[in-house]
Amino acid sequence: MARAKLIVGNWKMYTNAKSSVELAQAVAEGLKDNTQVMVGVCPPFPWLTKVSEAIKGSKLEVGAQNFYPAKEGAFTGEVSPGMLKEAGCTFSIVGHSERRHTLLEPDLLLNRKVKAGIAAGLGIIFCVGELLSEREAGHTEAVLEFQIAAGLAGLTAEQLKLVTIAYEPVWAIGTGKVATPQQAQEVHAFIRKFIAKQFGETVAQSLLIQYGGSVKPDNAAEILKQPDVDGALVGGASLKTDSFLAIVKAAY
Ligand code: G3P
Repeated sequence: MARAKLIVGNWKMYTNAKSSVELAQAVAEGLKDNTQVMVGVCPPFPWLTKVSEAIKGSKLEVGAQNFYPAKEGAFTGEVSPGMLKEAGCTFSIVGHSERRHTLLEPDLLLNRKVKAGIAAGLGIIFCVGELLSEREAGHTEAVLEFQIAAGLAGLTAEQLKLVTIAYEPVWAIGTGKVATPQQAQEVHAFIRKFIAKQFGETVAQSLLIQYGGSVKPDNAAEILKQPDVDGALVGGASLKTDSFLAIVKAAY
């Protein structure tokens, strides 16, 4: 089945008020002739509104990196899905490995976030991925099954239409150790098969599955041409306009 390609830049905790707008505008400018790939960027919270306003009407979507699963309330330091929408976001990342392993976000909270984001009308990029120790112990599939089952528990096939899964092997994030195209394809095919078991074949075939973890201009094409790889979630390389646009082009 022909699926769209989705390339998203996760800026993590980088850029400042000026550079965030400049980077987004430069990427938006570079997408003027792009009709083949969906492209988004995820700036840090403080820049979301300014970046959204700066690229309004362009082909570039703005997303967030996280949110708290409540409409409002006494949740110091948190932001709601509704606030993200008001800031111009159309989607958000949920469950990035840095939030799972550094900020210790439990699967139950991630499931609440997925549901709350969908209820607010946000698209969700739901991140899963194994640690190197889990891969070396042969537990990759078990870990991914648990993360997907726990994170997507209680969702209907209809709600899954707002979900993209990002497979980000933790051992490839920020390390320069990218998964081989074969490793990526193997895991993506496994994820798609597991989604088919949980939600049916139709949902599985239309679900986008991105790869993330040291995607660069020189390795993107090989990974993106794998049949079950529908795009990339890009960290470091998304902070440089030319590199990020080269990865977008590799998805054509
Ligand atoms: O969310 C994408 C990110 O985790 C990948 O980072 O720097 O390895 O492309 P990087």
